[in-house]
Amino acid sequence: MARPEHDLVVIGAGPGGYVAAIRAAQLGMSVACVEREPALGGTCLRIGCIPSKALLESSALFAQARRGLAAHGIGAGEVTLDLPAMLARKEATVRALTKGVESLFRKNRITRYAGHGSIAGRGEVVVDDGRRRTAVGARRILIATGSAPAPLPGVATDGDRIGTSTEALAYPDVPGHLVVVGAGYIGLELGSVWRRLGARVTVLEHLDRILPGMDAEIASEAQRVLERQGLEFRLQSRVTGARVEGGACVVECEGAEPLRCDRVLVAVGRRPVTEGLGLETVGITPDEQGRIPVDERFATAAPDVHAIGDVIGGPMLAHKAMDEGVACVEAMAGGIAQVDYDTVPAVVYTSPEIASVGRTEEELQRAGREYRKGVFPFVANGRARILGHTEGRVKVLADRKTDRVLGVHVLGAHAGDLIAEAAAAMAFGASSEDIARTCHAHPTLAEALREAALAVDDRALHV
Ligand code: NAI
Repeated sequence: MARPEHDLVVIGAGPGGYVAAIRAAQLGMSVACVEREPALGGTCLRIGCIPSKALLESSALFAQARRGLAAHGIGAGEVTLDLPAMLARKEATVRALTKGVESLFRKNRITRYAGHGSIAGRGEVVVDDGRRRTAVGARRILIATGSAPAPLPGVATDGDRIGTSTEALAYPDVPGHLVVVGAGYIGLELGSVWRRLGARVTVLEHLDRILPGMDAEIASEAQRVLERQGLEFRLQSRVTGARVEGGACVVECEGAEPLRCDRVLVAVGRRPVTEGLGLETVGITPDEQGRIPVDERFATAAPDVHAIGDVIGGPMLAHKAMDEGVACVEAMAGGIAQVDYDTVPAVVYTSPEIASVGRTEEELQRAGREYRKGVFPFVANGRARILGHTEGRVKVLADRKTDRVLGVHVLGAHAGDLIAEAAAAMAFGASSEDIARTCHAHPTLAEALREAALAVDDRALHV
């Protein structure tokens, strides 16, 4: 049989890869996508963003039904947890969305190859489905293989009691005591889920703060709020080992007594996935962190081989990968590859949510950049009061001379949605005055962003 030929073969059907495939098909390329998992959508859809947010939503409702309804004058009687049903709903959500990507592939006439894809020299990808190897011709290749949980030296995950986010998305029962290693995105989100469902949760973090990379003031307020919800934090606690012993897990921590618990969630970051990709056949060498080096058009060292998403540098975020996928294939079609990394938002879906775009205060200080700061607390926002979610604040950082917005940081209900306005404003080069002069509907949480923008010039109205 003749070797199938495509203008573009994408390796990996995660948010970066599948979006790139769709955009390339829209641009008229004949596109194929190789994926070794039975479902499309990558980590994000199968074992990441989507299932974790489904559980965050369900567990938040459970916690609200147990403790938050009385204030509204609602008595709900005894509230019980049906964990299998909660997990089944999460699975159904994942299924619906992965099926959605399948239908988008069909609609856009994208050929799907099931199996492990690897590069076999210039212009060829080999798909190995475990039974046979199929050679596929590719005028261009796009690597979008994503990332996997980073291992922690001394800790052997066993796919059960000592595991990663994959296991923590499907514990068959609520652990009595869950120890989370790492106070980053995953640790806080999945720690919150199991805390709300009744587990004792201890988060061990080797730095002296949670959420490294986020604005420190916002992170420290978030820590206090999460502590009030019952999460225990042990900062400056570096985990050096974990094992299952006599029916319990034992976690070794530098300079402290070992901790005994029922389950351990290791969430210490992720690493790019490049094994078995045949990079050596085209002369690509990953850097020390395992990332594939690319130029501003996402081109690798090999001709006609590009790479996007978690496998290259930058934040490991689904939306960043999607934007890179679109920019990369548009550049292939003669357009301009453009991703504005200064306006990529980041959201931690705890309750309240933590969201950020642009520079943090620490980054501005380190860079010696002169700025002005406006802060507005949600306790002074009408809608937040109505919702009963008065924790947190909005912080706007603007250039001292030009007033251009350099960063916006939010801790509060629906912060992940509010940050979109800040990102859009920054993408258009807005000043804090621009946001302050924009009419915002009342009563909305978004008014807090406007008030924080007004506060940059010391003229917030409601504090
Ligand atoms: P992370 O990089 O967010 O946090 C890892 C934490 O582990 C850091 O605070 C680090 O200091 C700590 N740590 C490292 N070694 C340690 C040790 N030996 N003992 C104690 N603490 C230690 O990584 P995480 O949470 O695993 O997430 C991985 C990636 O997935 C993130 O970078 C994020 O980009 C992405 N993600 C994004 C989400 C979102 O957008 N809402 C949700 C979940 C993940």
